[in-house]
Amino acid sequence: MLIKKNIFKLWHVLSGKTARAVLFYRLSNWFYNNKLKLLSHFFWRLNVTLHSVEISPMAKIGKDLKIAHSVGIVIGAGTSVGKNLSIYQNVTIGSKIDRNGKAQYPIIGDNVTLYPGCVVIGNITIGDDAVVAPNAVVIKDVPSKTVAMGIPAIIKSL
Ligand SMILES: CC(C)(COP(=O)(O)OP(=O)(O)OC[C@H]1O[C@@H](n2cnc3c(N)ncnc32)[C@H](O)[C@@H]1OP(=O)(O)O)[C@@H](O)C(=O)NCCC(=O)NCCS
Repeated sequence: MLIKKNIFKLWHVLSGKTARAVLFYRLSNWFYNNKLKLLSHFFWRLNVTLHSVEISPMAKIGKDLKIAHSVGIVIGAGTSVGKNLSIYQNVTIGSKIDRNGKAQYPIIGDNVTLYPGCVVIGNITIGDDAVVAPNAVVIKDVPSKTVAMGIPAIIKSL
């Protein structure tokens, strides 16, 4: 029974694009952290080629990452994310270059949802349970349990 359950789980991961995209990120991140740069680079690039998902192996993402549709997702190197991130298509989490030429990345809390087409950039914090609306451009902090919408994004309570 347990074997059947695990085979089903494995099949689910290998046959679905979105679960496979998460698996490839996890592998690239694990290889990066264990100084196996070539393998890390291989899974990072394979994820882009097969799934259109470019998550840097250096990005730190907590457990239960969910990708709804693996189309056009970019997550930059210095990004730090808590657990249970839900991410939709065409989402960018990326850097802004500060005055000293240093790239600054977002810090994202737990249970955050990033809806299609949104862009989250720079040295900002997205609080726990926050939502970023479709096509929003977020350049300032988003408090917990709020929704950020528009360009530039404004905050509304959930
Ligand atoms: C952002 C969202 C979560 C807000 O949901 P909600 O709290 O139920 O809010 P409402 O739909 O009642 O809208 C509240 C206000 O936000 C505005 N709003 C909603 N989505 C917006 C967006 N993407 N950009 C700008 N404003 C938006 C509405 O116009 C409304 O404005 P008003 O108060 O001035 O009338 C929801 O509108 C949404 O877009 N969900 C994502 C759905 C989606 O992307 N599905 C596809 C998945 S593949």
